[in-house]
Amino acid sequence: MSDTKGSSRSPARRPMTVPRLLEKKARGEKISVITAYDATFARIFDDAGVDVLLVGDSLGMVIQGRDSTLPVTMDEMIYHGAAVARESRYAHLVVDLPFMSYQPNVELALKNAGRLLSEGGAHAVKLEGGAEIAPTIAKIVSAGIPVMGHVGLTPQSVHAMGGFRVQGKTREAANRVLEEARAVAEAGAYAIVLEGIPNDLAREITEAIDIPTIGIGAGPHCDGQVLVSYDLLGLTPTLRPKFVKRYAELFDAAKRATETYVREVEEGSFPSAEYTFGEIRSENGSEEPAEKGDSETAPQKGKGYGPR
Ligand code: KIV
Repeated sequence: MSDTKGSSRSPARRPMTVPRLLEKKARGEKISVITAYDATFARIFDDAGVDVLLVGDSLGMVIQGRDSTLPVTMDEMIYHGAAVARESRYAHLVVDLPFMSYQPNVELALKNAGRLLSEGGAHAVKLEGGAEIAPTIAKIVSAGIPVMGHVGLTPQSVHAMGGFRVQGKTREAANRVLEEARAVAEAGAYAIVLEGIPNDLAREITEAIDIPTIGIGAGPHCDGQVLVSYDLLGLTPTLRPKFVKRYAELFDAAKRATETYVREVEEGSFPSAEYTFGEIRSENGSEEPAEKGDSETAPQKGKGYGPR
């Protein structure tokens, strides 16, 4: 990929950092966040100019096919975090602390937050909860690890909430979410995800606290937005939450491409001559490279995976 004028990988683009995210809120500029779980998608999203890549524990659902985020482990978060970090050049990289990696006690939380940075390539960690988790946030922040909070619909509490339900719908419930957000901000979090709450509550919170609010199913008044990448790219055919705008239909596109491949294999039209290495030569000649493409797109030396 060439760094052409206007490219999101141009030398003019500076890496996103915690201070620069805070500056964006101060200037009234919106923050874009997207979930990423592997190196290939990380490269696409980073290239597209996204501010923040979130390795969410939603990977338990979209990657592992589970029906909640609860079974996801620290080792899995580290594995996916490290994969995303390898292809993320400019985006700020946040990795989720999974269920029970921080709730039992502050020491465990600090140790696991540290692992996400040292082994998982994270620049910051995200955890769910309000006042009850504030001392944990303060401890992690005091160790120099930036923390992103997450209130409202908190998927790790799916059973306590009775399902993935919108939160803060009555004035009383809204006040509780507002207080949770205040507690998270006062504990030292640098940003907070607001998930599944009414638009006006998200606006109240955004005006009440100094740190950027990142909404998902929380309306337009947040300082930024986050979506699960598989949802916005149309890779989750059976899931169509109201708050998701599908910017592409990649499930259908991938299915159609695969159907064509299957048909061509079955009828014998693939591989045609252009996709083969020809016949045995009688004399030694110069070798044809195994991978096609120019120097920009061909895999780097030693990184190819095909026959040589
Ligand atoms: O796990 C996740 O992907 C998240 C986002 C939905 C905010 O927490």
